[in-house]
Amino acid sequence: MDKLLIQGGRRLSGEIAISGAKNAALPILCAALLTAEPVTFTNLPQLKDIGTLLALLEQMGVKVAREGGTVTLDASGLNNPVAPYEMVKTMRASILVLGPLVARCGEARVSLPGGCAIGARPVDQHIKGLQAMGAEVAVEHGYVHAKVPRLKGARLFTDMVTVTGTENLMMAACLAEGETVIENAAREPEIVDLANCLVSMGARISGAGTDVIRIRGVERLHGATHRIMPDRIETGTYLCAAAVTGGEVRLTGTSTGYLDAVVDKLLDAGCEIVSERDAIRLSAPARLAPVNLRTAPYPAFPTDMQAQFMAMDCVASGVSVIRETIFENRFMHAVELQRLGADIRIDGNTAVVQGVERLQGATVMATDLRASASLVIAGLVAEGETQIERIYHLDRGYEGLEEKLAALGASVRRLS
Ligand code: UD1
Repeated sequence: MDKLLIQGGRRLSGEIAISGAKNAALPILCAALLTAEPVTFTNLPQLKDIGTLLALLEQMGVKVAREGGTVTLDASGLNNPVAPYEMVKTMRASILVLGPLVARCGEARVSLPGGCAIGARPVDQHIKGLQAMGAEVAVEHGYVHAKVPRLKGARLFTDMVTVTGTENLMMAACLAEGETVIENAAREPEIVDLANCLVSMGARISGAGTDVIRIRGVERLHGATHRIMPDRIETGTYLCAAAVTGGEVRLTGTSTGYLDAVVDKLLDAGCEIVSERDAIRLSAPARLAPVNLRTAPYPAFPTDMQAQFMAMDCVASGVSVIRETIFENRFMHAVELQRLGADIRIDGNTAVVQGVERLQGATVMATDLRASASLVIAGLVAEGETQIERIYHLDRGYEGLEEKLAALGASVRRLS
């Protein structure tokens, strides 16, 4: 298994380009299932999760033509509306095929994703929504089996704000008969990107980006070309990496537009941020101030940035309090950060971090995608060498991580 070796203590400076968003690309690729015409996507990030999803679509009968960051999907030959356990278990987002498959084929068999490192993560809201639209859904032998001649528009209300749940139901509703209203919808920018893509395919959607989304079903969707939005979590991660080293960086192909809550906290930490039309510049003080934060659905502070901020708080000039309200078990990185000398106390969903003068390099283990990113950030400021094991998690979500960090002056090496 690959490992990452980081020699800490270098100040990051320079410029790198941000990739297309993983969490926008995953649902958008699934949207291609909704039409028999080819759909082309650009700015697609080269990530393990994207490869996994493309393989899943291929085994359903979708033709995939990929060249660099551009991919064309042709689902005219879609003949196997099944997502097997072997593929779903490695990537929970595979559940995003459920809505489009039921809408287009009238049937789908998708493995239940099961738990993951950060919590139980059920999909009951996805199922409840499809049932309200008239689908017969049975959960048997670990699979969700959904069937319906044609979905019917309905008024849907999710018990909690769910990102992929909103996306699944929005895609399903595009081909349903009549109007669907999703209340308590998630408002993440990735949902707006998906809605824009669906609209360019002929869907009739309004309200994406608010908590009430209206979809008027159409008979069929057509082909289109869509550019995937920039990855706001990758952007935020590099901003934190630069900030923690007292660095000065410019990130291109991205914007602060999707990142208000994160930018606000970086300002609180003492960073200066300049927002350009298609780029962000950050310069950081020698030592950051501690920042308190509480994760919540967009537009509040994203849970996917919590671990990276905890790493920053570990070396800040005081005490900070971090509350995680989305996932019940998302402090796995804290024990690994402690191995690097961090002073963190966990009580339920709250972490109290006492900033220390310096961290010390050690061997640590990546437990999930964003936890791994926090270990990289900590490794960049730790004295001496930090060895991060199980970095396949990072490959799921960060395109060219070592190259980008090296371009900013970090000393990073992959050991195979
Ligand atoms: C998405 C993101 C993930 C991010 C998360 C929260 C993608 C591919 N993944 O995950 O990176 O961390 O949003 O911003 O976009 N829940 C239920 N039942 C359901 C659905 C959700 O109980 O049917 C719960 C979950 O367990 C969790 C909360 O709702 O506690 C929010 O989860 P959700 O927004 O659905 O996360 P994902 O869409 O899986």
